[in-house]
This record gives sequence, structure tokens and C-alpha cells, in this order.
Amino acid sequence: MTDSLTVRDNRTGQEYDVPILDGTIKAADLGKIKTAEDTPGLAVYDPGFVNTASCRSSVTYIDGEKGILEYRGYPIEQLAEKSSFLEVAYLLIHGALPTKAEYDAWVHEITYHTFVHENVKTFMQGFRYDAHPMGMLMASVGALSTFYPDARNISDADNRHMQIVRMIAKMPTLGAWSFRHAQGKPYVYPDNDLSYTANFLSMLFKMSESKYEADPRLVKALDVLFILHADHEQNCSTNAVRSVGSSQVDPYSAVAAGVGALYGPLHGGANEAVLRMLKRIGSKENIPAFIQGVKDGNERLMGFGHRVYKNFDPRATIIKKACDDVFEVTGVNPLLEIAKELEKIALEDEYFIKRKLYPNVDFYSGLIYEAFQFPPEMFTVLFAIGRTPGWLAQWLELVQDKEQKIARPKQIYTGDRTLDFVPASERWA
Ligand SMILES: CC(C)(COP(=O)(O)OP(=O)(O)OC[C@H]1O[C@@H](n2cnc3c(N)ncnc32)[C@H](O)[C@@H]1OP(=O)(O)O)[C@@H](O)C(=O)NCCC(=O)NCCS
Repeated sequence: MTDSLTVRDNRTGQEYDVPILDGTIKAADLGKIKTAEDTPGLAVYDPGFVNTASCRSSVTYIDGEKGILEYRGYPIEQLAEKSSFLEVAYLLIHGALPTKAEYDAWVHEITYHTFVHENVKTFMQGFRYDAHPMGMLMASVGALSTFYPDARNISDADNRHMQIVRMIAKMPTLGAWSFRHAQGKPYVYPDNDLSYTANFLSMLFKMSESKYEADPRLVKALDVLFILHADHEQNCSTNAVRSVGSSQVDPYSAVAAGVGALYGPLHGGANEAVLRMLKRIGSKENIPAFIQGVKDGNERLMGFGHRVYKNFDPRATIIKKACDDVFEVTGVNPLLEIAKELEKIALEDEYFIKRKLYPNVDFYSGLIYEAFQFPPEMFTVLFAIGRTPGWLAQWLELVQDKEQKIARPKQIYTGDRTLDFVPASERWA
């Protein structure tokens, strides 16, 4: 067996041998296939990059058929159960688990950098009272590039490390302040005696008490949710970070692009749609009629199905367990009953079985966030905080990868050519 592809171009009758490496061919090799020397070579048309690998990566492995998700080789189930978000962040960024000394130094660095410049606060206060927190997060993380102009020196390893630490540390501060802004409440400064996730909850919910200490079960559940969202290989927002980062801009600007991509309803907004759907169903008796509507093609069962996972989404199983832990503290959300019944009925139904439709990460996460009393606009902000180490690990990989170039796809031009311009004075005469 030879690791190559023989392509016969029926326009010319010529044959080409294209090497296969790691299950891929190089698109540039197809560019050598031409009808004449001065014509453009063959290109690949792939809107949405559904079958195009854009990089080599050792950050995250997914096997959608088998329901496997691993960060740096470690299964998500083990990380969610036994690790912490900051340890997972270290793993993603550095590629290996930390020693005790490395972990302590990492936690210290992140904790030390949670504060933002006072002018960031003034800047955030300038947003309208009803500004969407994701818009505020995108703008404020991008604005950090103006506070740290040295960040553009991306070829220096120490400098890159500094910006990575700053960004992981400051995202919860920016996210929490965007939440407080919408509520007209004073912004709460970080409390560096608390853990990363407990401090985030303090910045969100602290009022006049001298110290805000969230229930440890809630802290743990949110920490697990951050772990589950920490990376998902070349998804839309990660691709945005890589694409913008490929221009060698500073990482704050690249991550702001990732936040922008995540803001879109097709990426970060599905859990909000699940909540709306559950509220619309209203009670268990209405489930059969709803399911029938889905099967008739009038509805979509939000939180079911995934482009990559075709047997189960490993994150959904972990989230379901976290749901029980959270509701033990907050009291059960009546929508949970509907969600569980809906899942049970759907998993036994031929329509869903045949199409391999299973609950995804968003089916239960919205319920958890609602139990924390987050408004739906905040759901994506939480996703962004969790995804930040993943974006940065991928950015770091990109800037050190000698094979990478500035992202610049081709197009198939469909417009007019060589028209003669007639000046307005003649056209309108
Ligand atoms: C995630 C999603 C976009 C993946 O889409 P995809 O991989 O392009 O899959 P397709 O849309 O081609 O779906 C394949 C079949 O399953 C059906 N299907 C997919 N998701 C469905 C859902 N949530 N409810 C009902 N039917 C669904 C499609 O109608 C299609 O049926 P058909 O073969 O009879 O036409 C899709 O499953 C979806 O919209 N899910 C709901 C939104 C959601 O939860 N998104 C969060 C993802 S983490």
C-alpha cells in the first residue's frame, strides 16, 4: 500500500501522485494540477472548513463517534472529577501537569493579576445601562491591548507567558463587571484570598457583606463547568483566534475575536435556546405533542445533536451530575423535571435513535446557570471565561508553529469583469 493519491485530471488526461500524510493531502499539492502553465491550479472549495485541517495541534483530541474528549491526552471525565480549572488551564497552556511548586507559582501568578487598571473600570462604565455583557467583554478584553502595548512582542516567550497569565486572571473580573453593570450595582474588586472560581462568584454577587463566600458545592460545580468548556479543538471561536492571531497581532486582540465568534447564537447561544424551549413546553404533559412537532419537522429539540459527537457528548454526562449537586443547594428548578422527561422520551424514540441525536453540553448547562441566578445573556460570558485557556493554548501553538502562515483563504470569484467605468456626471445625465 502506498500512502499517496493518484488523481487523473480528465480535462487533460494527465495523472498526478499526491502524497498522503496523517490522513490528509496538502491543498497546495492540488494547486499543481493545471490545464495550462498560466492557468490557476486546482483549489478546494470548503465553506465552513467542514473537511479541511488548518493546523497540527496537540492540545485537544476528540473522537465524535466514540464520545471521547481529551485535553493533552487526559480524559475529560477524570479532569472534571479530580482536577481544578486552574490546573487544567496549566495543562492546556504548558502541555503537561504541574509539579506542586509549578502549580503553586501558577495559582499565585494568576491570583496576583486579577485586578485591572482603574481606567478599564471607567471605560466599562461608559457602556449603556442595557449593554450586552458579551459586547462589553469583547470590547474590554480587546482594550487590554492598549494597557499592555508590550503584548505585541509575541516572539518573546516570557512576554507571551505574561499576557497569558493576565488574560486568564482578568477575564472573570471583566465578565463579573459586565454583569454588575447591567444591574446598576457597584463593581466588586477581586478578593485574592479566594480561589479563582470563588472569587468570580464574589465579584458577581457580593453586596454589603465584608466577605462573600459562596457555597463550596456551587464553587465546585462552576469550576467543573469551566473545565468542560476549556477547549474543544478547532471550533468557530478558536478558529477566529487563530485566524486573527495569524496576522501576529497581540493576544488580547486575537482573544477579542474569539469572544466575538462565541457571541453568535450558533456557537455560544444554544443553552439559552434550551431554556426558552423548556419554558415553552411548560409541563410534562405537553412533551408528547412537542416531540411530535419535532418529528414533523416543525421544531428542533434544542440541546440535542452535535456536529462532531454522534453517540454521546461526554460533557453532557458530567453536567447532568453537576446539576444534581447544584440543585441540592439552590432547590430544584421545575424545568429540570421537564428536561429529564424530555431526554428519557427522546432517547427511546426511533426518530432520535436513527439520527444519532443525544443530549449535548448545552442541554443541562442553562438550567445550572439559571439556578445560579444568571440571566441568559451571561451564559456565553461564562463559556468565554472557561474557554480562555483553550484559546490561549491554541494561540501559543499557532505562534510557535513554523508551518503556519497568515490565514488567507481563496475564493471562487462570481462577479463581473473588466467593466468600463462611466462617471456619475454621464450616467445621471
Ligand atoms: C448541533 C447541530 C447544529 C448539528 O447539526 P448537523 O451535524 O449539521 O446535523 P444535521 O442538521 O445535518 O442533522 C441530521 C438529521 O438530524 C436532525 N436533527 C439534528 N439535530 C436535531 C435536533 N436538535 N432536533 C431534531 N432533529 C434534529 C436533522 O433534522 C436531520 O434530519 P434529516 O436527516 O431527517 O434531515 C444540530 O444537531 C442542532 O441544531 N442541534 C440543536 C442546537 C444545539 O443544541 N446546538 C448546540 C450544539 S453544542
